[in-house]
Amino acid sequence: MTVLWIKSLHIIFMVTWMAAIFYLPRLFVYHVQAINENDPKGDARFKIMERKLFWGIMTPGAIFTIVFGAWLWLGYGITGKWMMWKLLLVLTLVVHHVLCFVHLRAFREGRNTRSEKYFRVMNELPVFALFGIVFLVVLKPT
Ligand code: HEM
Repeated sequence: MTVLWIKSLHIIFMVTWMAAIFYLPRLFVYHVQAINENDPKGDARFKIMERKLFWGIMTPGAIFTIVFGAWLWLGYGITGKWMMWKLLLVLTLVVHHVLCFVHLRAFREGRNTRSEKYFRVMNELPVFALFGIVFLVVLKPT
């Protein structure tokens, strides 16, 4: 496979990962509302949606983005100082991913204590990482 094929796959899986990263905390917002409104059917439905999004889209998206990214970096030697900053930002996305899992499990076990507002704020944070990463890979300022 040529480098452009790998890069295309890297971008495709990155979009998949980001779509889920921006949608899962939003589902948590609606899930909190369903619980506060004593809606057991809504609660059950959100648990299924969250599980499928996390395991069916978000986690495979993360794994394949990282696999193809690592292939570009190590396999083709595309590297630089910008790459180190990018990796740092990718690490914050991985931490966000793990945090999503922690909340998913809390909802599944009916012991979420976080508010709607908390998940709204959580939803905004990865935006900064995405801006930083795209500017770094495209502009390569360092
Ligand atoms: C461990 C994780 C990752 C590694 C090792 C990695 C590595 C790389 C490398 C080496 C390139 C090629 C750059 C070039 O051709 O100049 C690349 C391209 C790219 N990466 Fe990543 N990446 C990772 C994760 C991500 C993430 C999480 C995002 C976005 C949220 C992302 C977005 C992009 C984009 C948009 C490009 C295309 C840039 C272009 O061709 O102009 N990468 N990545």
